[in-house]
Amino acid sequence: MYQLSFSLESFLAEFWHKKPTIIKGGFTDFVDPITPEEVAGLTMEEEIDSRFVSNLNDNWTAEHGPFEESKFSELPTSNWQLIVQAANHWHDGVAQLTKAFEALPQWLFDDLMICYSEKGGGVGPHIDQYDVFIIQGSGKRQWRVGDKDVGQYKETHRTEALRQIEGFDSIIDQVLEPGDILYIPPGFPHEGVTLEPSMSYSMGYRSPKEQELISNFADYILSHDMGDVHQHNPLMETQAHHGEVKSSDLTQLTEMMTKAFQDQESIKDFMGTMLSQSRHQLAFYPPEEAWSAEEVAQYFETDAVFLKVSGLRALYNESDPCVAYIDGNMYKVDKEQQPLLQWLCNNNSIHQSVLNRPFESAEIALLTELVNKGYWFCDESE
Ligand code: SIN
Ligand code: CO
Repeated sequence: MYQLSFSLESFLAEFWHKKPTIIKGGFTDFVDPITPEEVAGLTMEEEIDSRFVSNLNDNWTAEHGPFEESKFSELPTSNWQLIVQAANHWHDGVAQLTKAFEALPQWLFDDLMICYSEKGGGVGPHIDQYDVFIIQGSGKRQWRVGDKDVGQYKETHRTEALRQIEGFDSIIDQVLEPGDILYIPPGFPHEGVTLEPSMSYSMGYRSPKEQELISNFADYILSHDMGDVHQHNPLMETQAHHGEVKSSDLTQLTEMMTKAFQDQESIKDFMGTMLSQSRHQLAFYPPEEAWSAEEVAQYFETDAVFLKVSGLRALYNESDPCVAYIDGNMYKVDKEQQPLLQWLCNNNSIHQSVLNRPFESAEIALLTELVNKGYWFCDESE
């Protein structure tokens, strides 16, 4: 089990969205959850988002996976890096590492990215709009971080794919060793250079932009047929100036527009459906043959568990725990089933004993629906 050696609570107060920092020994006795060979294996899969970045002789190139096995037999001995995005969706051991950060909200967590790099490997100096915890596994990397971007950094044209910047002065310049964690808030330039063959794990957190919220809400309004009305003004009067928009009209039009933004119920459902959608593909396979409610009930009687698809987002609002938002879909339950819904959102597996009473038929019906969608699946390792 992976456990942080420091208090996330005090970390948030001092550093979160404020300044970068290095936490030496953020994990004590850190053991890699995955091997470099397994990382290479993941980059050969069609549905997994991966990249290979090389900078041999300062010639930067980036290629997207999937890669053929032959790729790995012809690699140089230095100056390259393999990257797998959302590796927690595809590898159980890697998913275990994300658990150490579960005191941070699920809706903010984007993915865990793995980098395997040889000496001299890296992706060059760049700026992310993510909060990231870069956990050093085996090996060593030299990390530099610069001051927050306020428009002073210039993008280079070395390669389009890497969005590198020209350079920056360091405010942090340190070697990370196994178990050390580098935290970088959005907007701080950084660069890691590998000193010894290295595994690193980036826990990325991404908050939505204001413009994304507005444009996604506009899509929600359209798809839910909300506001399908024209301005209606039976009290209209003539006006002296043909080209003038009367203040009273402007007010009425503005009110029409802002009314939607005051509809708390719609906003709640819109936010829940939006925030519960993962930005990365899930290892998600609905069963070929649907389970019946009886089969689900019998399965629990054998003391078995259903596991949640790794990286699936399942959320509920503090103010209304009878509604859950799972992978962009909404599930409403009665008050009696609310503890089950909360359990499903907060945990990665479900077993018959979690509520300290047998499941009721409405609960089995909900679980059957979720299993048939492929969101929870039976644990073959049992
Ligand atoms: C890397 O490990 O080189 C890439 C991670 C990052 O810069 O966000
Ligand atoms: Co970065």
